[in-house]
Amino acid sequence: MSPLVWLPFAPDVLDDPPSDLRYEVVDPTEDVPDTVGDVAFYVPPYQVGPAVAEVMTRMSALRVVQTLTAGVDNLRDRVPPGVTLCNGRGIHDTSTAELALTLILASLRGIPGFVRAQDRREWSPGWRPALADKRVLIVGYGAVGAAIEARLVPFEVDVVRVARSAREGVHPISALPDLLPEADVVVLIVPLTAETRGLVDAGFLARLKDGALLVNVSRGPVVVTDDLVAALRSGRIHAALDVVDPEPLPADSPLWDVPNLLVSPHVGGASSAMWPRAYRLVRDQLHRFAAGEPLANVMSGEY
Ligand SMILES: NC(=O)c1ccc[n+]([C@@H]2O[C@H](COP(=O)([O-])OP(=O)(O)OC[C@H]3O[C@@H](n4cnc5c(N)ncnc54)[C@H](OP(=O)(O)O)[C@@H]3O)[C@@H](O)[C@H]2O)c1
Repeated sequence: MSPLVWLPFAPDVLDDPPSDLRYEVVDPTEDVPDTVGDVAFYVPPYQVGPAVAEVMTRMSALRVVQTLTAGVDNLRDRVPPGVTLCNGRGIHDTSTAELALTLILASLRGIPGFVRAQDRREWSPGWRPALADKRVLIVGYGAVGAAIEARLVPFEVDVVRVARSAREGVHPISALPDLLPEADVVVLIVPLTAETRGLVDAGFLARLKDGALLVNVSRGPVVVTDDLVAALRSGRIHAALDVVDPEPLPADSPLWDVPNLLVSPHVGGASSAMWPRAYRLVRDQLHRFAAGEPLANVMSGEY
């Protein structure tokens, strides 16, 4: 029998999926069919929780897990040994870069304050920092980081790039202490790993210049929440966060009340730009799988 593929969407959206595979549409939070033991290629629903980890333990024929998320921090330790994990690198570049620009521009130009004033029927003009002429430090120069840079360039900024290791035009993470005091805007777009967890702590924040803007579109635990709360309460810096720790942000979190903070509810990837890119990646991976070719986006260890 041909290998079984579980998808979170109907296979006909894939525009010519391989005909020599069998497909079932499954949401494990609703129902787990008896065919679970036959699944060879699994595409879990976008941003699901423990149900996916549980269902994978019952997939005795599983060979490949293809996520729709770029980050696999919540899944990488749950994939059974011997199973290939592929992430959704590329699916979210466009959407997340667009949100990063939105957060930067909205924060610098004071859009949240205008919206609040509008609700009060108040006309509240004032001068704000422009993005133009600023130095923007992108921490994590991968797929999304490069997409953010491409959208920053027309705004007449100076972009500085940081990644794990140095290469031409990209600083190593070890250079961060020297780069932080020179940055007007710092954008975090690294994966959550043992190395990046807690990267932004009191020491990191203390090196930022007065009035700097910190933007996190990576994962919440890259930032130590208590340290950021203290820095924001001091009034010295601003922040815009698409991701927080924990998520969803609890009603009693101090982040709801700190000054100079704009929060979006982890929607970097959640836009109309996601699905066409997700379908393309899944279709291409299925064709590779069916042909016995090497898959793209294979994760090994923390990557
Ligand atoms: N907010 C959202 O909805 C949303 C959407 C998409 C992605 N994300 C998050 O963004 C992350 C990055 O996505 P991506 O597709 O751009 O990943 P990617 O292409 O794999 O790029 C990751 C980048 O981070 C760098 N990096 C990794 N560990 C580092 C460290 N310890 N110090 C400094 N840099 C480090 C890598 O450095 P090297 O180049 O040297 O390897 C690489 O440049 C995802 O893992 C996900 O958590 C969030």
